[in-house]
Amino acid sequence: MPTIDLGEYRCHVEIQGDGPVLLLVHGFPLDHTMWRPQFDELQQSVRLIAPDLRGFGRDDRLLPDTLTMQDFADDLAELLDALQVVSPVTFCGLSMGGYIGWQFWKRHRERVARLILCDTRATADSVEVARGRQMMANRVLQEGNAFVPAAMLDKLFSSATQQRDPQLIATTRDTILGTRPDAIAAAQRGMAERIDFQTDLPSINVPTLLLCGQDDVITPSAEMRVMAGSIPGSEFVEIPAAGHLPPLENPVATNRAIADFLR
Ligand code: MLT
Repeated sequence: MPTIDLGEYRCHVEIQGDGPVLLLVHGFPLDHTMWRPQFDELQQSVRLIAPDLRGFGRDDRLLPDTLTMQDFADDLAELLDALQVVSPVTFCGLSMGGYIGWQFWKRHRERVARLILCDTRATADSVEVARGRQMMANRVLQEGNAFVPAAMLDKLFSSATQQRDPQLIATTRDTILGTRPDAIAAAQRGMAERIDFQTDLPSINVPTLLLCGQDDVITPSAEMRVMAGSIPGSEFVEIPAAGHLPPLENPVATNRAIADFLR
């Protein structure tokens, strides 16, 4: 996996294929490997750029207490600069990657040709959800991340996927266990204070695809359908046989939806 020198630090980023750029932004608390099934299939027609976000995967940067969605969005713009990507890209983010997508749109709009939002939402956290994130942040810093897979895996994957593909669940558990506790804490705090984007949805004037797993219990498909109604001309595709992670749970349908949209 190549590393890109960004002056004071190095960013780990998977790059494959040739053509217009598809920037793949992973969810929480995962890393670029969640896009594995997209690399093989989509690299015929696009240049896939899938970084590990700051603190995640193999990224070893020192972290602040809170990593905001704005921080991540600015990191991605800096990465595109370093890679000398000047043409606008297709920004594809899943869940936290989608929260980052809203900020990327607000702060780096000129870099966006198209948007793909997977299993995400535009609302800010309720007080209760934000409190839960603060509790996880405090706990993970005190006792490490061993408890995190049990707290998340059941919600990330549909029950059908859990029965059908235990290897995928095991691999994802390993990814979560490999995630730095300080990154989990900083991103949870950042998500807890993220800004509501609902009133900005109508400002999106590039082609936009919304994808959601049919059995997603974290960001339900009904909520995404409503969101699609606020984005002029957007498309909504529900991915069958998938929970919160359709790119991993049903790559065939996910890749088809992305390829059709990009065509
Ligand atoms: C994710 O998949 O990125 C998380 O579910 C986002 C969140 O915790 O809201």
